[in-house]
Amino acid sequence: MRIVVGITGASGSVYGVRLLQVLKELGVESHLVVSQTGVEVVKYETGVDVRGLRDLAVWHDVGDLFAPIASGSFRTGGMVIVPCSMHTLGAVAQGVTENLLLRAADVMLKEGRPLLLAPREAPLNKIHVSNMLKVMDAGARLIPASPAFYHRPSSLQDLVDFMVGKLLDGLGLEHNLYQRWGE
Ligand SMILES: Cc1cc2nc3c(=O)[nH]c(=O)nc-3n(C[C@H](O)[C@H](O)[C@H](O)COP(=O)(O)O)c2cc1C
Repeated sequence: MRIVVGITGASGSVYGVRLLQVLKELGVESHLVVSQTGVEVVKYETGVDVRGLRDLAVWHDVGDLFAPIASGSFRTGGMVIVPCSMHTLGAVAQGVTENLLLRAADVMLKEGRPLLLAPREAPLNKIHVSNMLKVMDAGARLIPASPAFYHRPSSLQDLVDFMVGKLLDGLGLEHNLYQRWGE
């Protein structure tokens, strides 16, 4: 199975990095595209140089619109954008495909493949909310970057893993990243 992972310049890049680690552990082939601001925010928030992520995924430059993930004929099982900025959310909602991350998302929608967005912003304005409705109408699923506490996390890692577990649930992938309610 192949999954496209997009990391944007929203806060919460730790979720994207952890998702890549878990997908690798699960034997999933990840294709990674990081927005220009995403590169800087990953470095700022996690201390990770995105070039170090090349061990976890097939790397695609965000400016490379000739990359395989720019085409619907390249078969994938879906795409996760985590974290998803309001800029990228808005561009997806409008069908704007000015970079590879946006084009790959547009491909998911046109091919009817899973597109999971983990938006992160607070507070939200009406434009953000309206764009959320638009992408949902177009077939995307929203899995907000807002971890829960009912699984009684005892560390930051538990909170991150809860979110990543929710994303894997959205892709239909088995995992043990968080304790399910009632199990
Ligand atoms: C440290 C940092 C944190 C940010 N956090 C957010 C955020 O949580 N949500 C958001 O929508 N934008 C956030 N931004 C702003 C986006 O990075 C900015 O809107 C950018 O244009 C997004 O572009 P992209 O979608 O191509 O990554 C943040 C910027 C910085 C520098």
